Amino acid sequence: MSLQIGDIAPDFTVQTTEGEIHFYDYIDGHWAVLFSHPKNFTPVCTTELGYTAFLKPQFDARGVKVLGLSVDKLESHGDWAKDIEETQGTALNFPLIADTDRKIALLYDMIHPNASDSMTVRTVFVIGPDKRVKLSMNYPAATGRNFDEVIRVIDSLQLSAKHQVATPVNWKVGEDVIISGAVSDEAAKEKYPAGFKTIKPYLRTVAQPK
Ligand code: BEZ
Repeated sequence: MSLQIGDIAPDFTVQTTEGEIHFYDYIDGHWAVLFSHPKNFTPVCTTELGYTAFLKPQFDARGVKVLGLSVDKLESHGDWAKDIEETQGTALNFPLIADTDRKIALLYDMIHPNASDSMTVRTVFVIGPDKRVKLSMNYPAATGRNFDEVIRVIDSLQLSAKHQVATPVNWKVGEDVIISGAVSDEAAKEKYPAGFKTIKPYLRTVAQPK
């Protein structure tokens, strides 16, 4: 069975463009994004890797460690990194795993044999400081992901990990959030002295907690 939300993300030790990484030591109590791309020297992957490097300061600001993966060789990663910098305007600034024996790809179900038995699909795992999977996504080779959405999701995950709130459709930082059903009206009045809105008894909104 595939890795599901709430499962412990498996540990591994692997060669990357930034040396050998022990995953649990690398994340070390931080949030992490582990994502796979199908193949080096391919157009969609080149744009995705460049954009993720561009977003690195945003991941850093949220305390998120980023780790990319493909089943290509380390030397190939190094050569391709030059193209990424040249064409996308941002140098690779996070480790890229060379999962040549597909150990991690198999551990994380990144190979979907009915799509391709030789390449990983485009997976994203967001992993919490507790090492549990908080979110996973799978995209096919021909569709580049929206990494701004990955940042948006992390904002929601981090907010709901800290406060008893959920985020509504298309929510963005600064917009109202939903009060968890686990919080009674009495508790909500205490928690939110400036007030909250009851649209239905099960749908109560409040300004985003700081
Ligand atoms: C791409 O990144 O463009 C790509 C990768 C693998 C298969 C097809 C396209």
